[in-house]
Amino acid sequence: MKIDLLSTDSFAAGQPHDQFRWLRDNAPVRWHDEPGGKGFWAVTRHADVWEVDRDFQAYSSGPTIMITDPLEGVGGFGDHKMMLMMDPPEHTQFRKLIRSEFTLPAARLRQERIKALARQIVDAVIDKGECDFVAEIAGEMPSFVIAELMGLPLTDGRELYKLTEVIHTAPEALPPGAGGAAVAKMFEYGSRVIAEKRARPGDDLASRLLACEVDGRKLEDVEFLLFFLLLVDAGGDTTRNLLSGGLLALMEHPDQYAWLMEDLPGRLPTAREELLRWTSPVIYMRRTALKDVELAGQQIREGDKVVMYFGAANRDPAAFDRPEMLDLSRDPNPHIAFGTGPHGCLGQHIARIEIDAMLVEVLTRMGGFELPAPPEWLPSNFISGPKTMPLRFNQRS
Ligand code: HEM
Repeated sequence: MKIDLLSTDSFAAGQPHDQFRWLRDNAPVRWHDEPGGKGFWAVTRHADVWEVDRDFQAYSSGPTIMITDPLEGVGGFGDHKMMLMMDPPEHTQFRKLIRSEFTLPAARLRQERIKALARQIVDAVIDKGECDFVAEIAGEMPSFVIAELMGLPLTDGRELYKLTEVIHTAPEALPPGAGGAAVAKMFEYGSRVIAEKRARPGDDLASRLLACEVDGRKLEDVEFLLFFLLLVDAGGDTTRNLLSGGLLALMEHPDQYAWLMEDLPGRLPTAREELLRWTSPVIYMRRTALKDVELAGQQIREGDKVVMYFGAANRDPAAFDRPEMLDLSRDPNPHIAFGTGPHGCLGQHIARIEIDAMLVEVLTRMGGFELPAPPEWLPSNFISGPKTMPLRFNQRS
């Protein structure tokens, strides 16, 4: 079996489940070469991914969670980095600053507003009978929610989200310099937010972040900007890809779709979790070994890159009965689409509310879905989902 988890070709029609199956069965912690880089260990079994993600004393989130190391001198953040790339205790300190905004009760307070946004999004396309599901429906929700959280105009949320998409695209699929330019634009916008929120603080996360303290001092501008980039980045195309990939999965499994529609409110909770397992929008997170350590019989050396493949773990027969089947009634469903351990997705409660609101709105008001052309997938080995998904539909009466 040819294994290539770097080429975006492997992800051009969804995740490479054939390769993942072979790896889990034959070499669950396998060395993977990396042209121009030092190579990495690919981890594909559920139990091993779980272990690596939780053991921050052996596996660090620094210097980066991407496979490719940052270029020397490029980045320009000095000693600063995103919380996603910190380890405890520094990580704990930063996560504490925004944790209370993302608890289940805090997320529930946003539920009615999120439902109203879902209605507004479907209202905008319902009479057209066709749309690009990714851009016009799935992508709208997370960009509006991030904008609301941060106290920004909804239309700005949409612009920021477009920048995120560029940032998550493999550099070779972009014009030279486009990725860096998108990060620079995001920071430019973030700097305007700093000025605006300092002058007129509001009841929003951006204003609260600017007011809060770490080690008895206010956040520096660059620290705020890195939080800003993380939140816009982490909550955007992940949720979008779950919604587009999820609808696609329903269309490809008409029996499951029909079962869901028999009792949408009652069946949505297990269905949503199964769609998360099935689509696993985040393909991987990387760690770096802090010491020599053994994992599933493999000797990992200090400094080695260790890459957790969430989509592979989520189809592991050791963790799931008949993992290759989409089973919307699956319960329990120990998927790790949101990761686990200290970095486990902070936005998961909000994400679930967004997903439910959007699926209810789409599935109760729209039907007769048809794809006039096959969806085009994101050219990325990091985030998985359709880039465009032209869709025809009817209005349900
Ligand atoms: C379907 C939607 C989503 C998926 C699949 C997803 C997945 C993930 C994954 C896999 C991680 C890394 C976990 C790890 O390393 O163990 C993560 C981290 C994170 N996510 Fe999400 N996410 C989603 C939606 C969101 C939303 C809506 C937000 C915010 C509004 C968000 C905010 C974050 C943040 C801030 C982190 C970093 C946490 C940390 O470093 O402590 N995510 N997410």
